[in-house]
Amino acid sequence: MARPLVKAILQPTAASTRLVLATLPYPTPAEGDYVIKVQAVAPCKDERGWEQADPHFFTKPRDRVPCIEGSGTVVSAPSGSSTLAPGSDVFFMLDAGVTGALRQYAEVAASGVSLKPSSLSFSQAAAVPLSAVTAWQGLFEHGPLDPTAVQDGDAAARDRARHANKAIRVLVAGAAGGVGSWAVKLAAAAGATVLGVARPAKSELVRSFGAVEAVDYAGAEALSGHHKGVDLVLDTVGGKDGMRQLWGAVKDDGLFLEVGDGNPDSVRPPGKKADSKWYLVHTDADQLQAISRLIDTDGLRPLVDEVYPFEKFEAAFEKVDGGTTRGKVVITVN
Ligand SMILES: NC(=O)c1ccc[n+]([C@@H]2O[C@H](COP(=O)([O-])OP(=O)(O)OC[C@H]3O[C@@H](n4cnc5c(N)ncnc54)[C@H](OP(=O)(O)O)[C@@H]3O)[C@@H](O)[C@H]2O)c1
Repeated sequence: MARPLVKAILQPTAASTRLVLATLPYPTPAEGDYVIKVQAVAPCKDERGWEQADPHFFTKPRDRVPCIEGSGTVVSAPSGSSTLAPGSDVFFMLDAGVTGALRQYAEVAASGVSLKPSSLSFSQAAAVPLSAVTAWQGLFEHGPLDPTAVQDGDAAARDRARHANKAIRVLVAGAAGGVGSWAVKLAAAAGATVLGVARPAKSELVRSFGAVEAVDYAGAEALSGHHKGVDLVLDTVGGKDGMRQLWGAVKDDGLFLEVGDGNPDSVRPPGKKADSKWYLVHTDADQLQAISRLIDTDGLRPLVDEVYPFEKFEAAFEKVDGGTTRGKVVITVN
């Protein structure tokens, strides 16, 4: 029997940024995949250019549907003891390089799916997964913070971890953005001392996320002398000039992590000993679950710039790529 068709937005070729309304067959899930009735998705800045910029992430055949994070309701679950039942409300992220979620139904690998925070709407929840998990991995997987401080379980162990994290100074650049705002919130929730770099107009916002100090981009370099440097720089902006400046802030035994455009090593000052790397986020259902719990228990919230209906997809992408957003843009689907 022919599979029913579902509405989807397609990018016809990697070279074109034009998006078109189309139909695709109802998803056929691979083993280990959920099928999710999509409620809302969040586009990423410049995502229509990813395939041209990094073709080696896009080698598998796929329909070129954008948006790799969203929220929705489970229609069918993979077999296994720890699966979420059909009818569960979830939020999710996909690896770049697979068919995205800007369609009515999507297949999503179990490694990227968790129960939606019950205190968030579908639109709010769609704005969380990619940014928050990227921030989580920078702080707790690549960086020196102990995640025990924000995890469920033994309260004494949590207090010990918070105490240890308190000695760690973290500088987040792009602190008002999607990834940056989560990095500030999660690092502060874990007990670290957080400084946020943002435009002066966003200082108040950055402090409201939990930063003890908001620093203007022009002042980041001066942190080396002024505050004896930081243990971790997490830069979400990139660019050679910005990275050069941030090198000034990191201690010699510290770490410089980058998720934006460029590799810090390419502008490492002579003699600077700190470690550095660019990293790529990966899906992790346990991390997503921990973030979901923190949202419900600690009241952490995503910053949503604007919510667009499905048929206004072009306007939503224009807004994201225009670089003037304050938080995430969301597109509702069903
Ligand atoms: N490596 C990975 O795995 C991974 C994962 C997720 C995202 N990313 C990348 O990380 C970057 C940040 O993502 P995001 O979702 O946090 O983006 P976003 O919400 O647009 O935030 C970027 C922040 O950078 C600041 N900024 C400073 N100079 C800028 C400039 N010239 N152009 C644009 N923004 C500037 C902006 O704040 P101010 O207005 O205060 O300057 C903005 O808040 C993007 O490049 C994204 O593709 C990478």
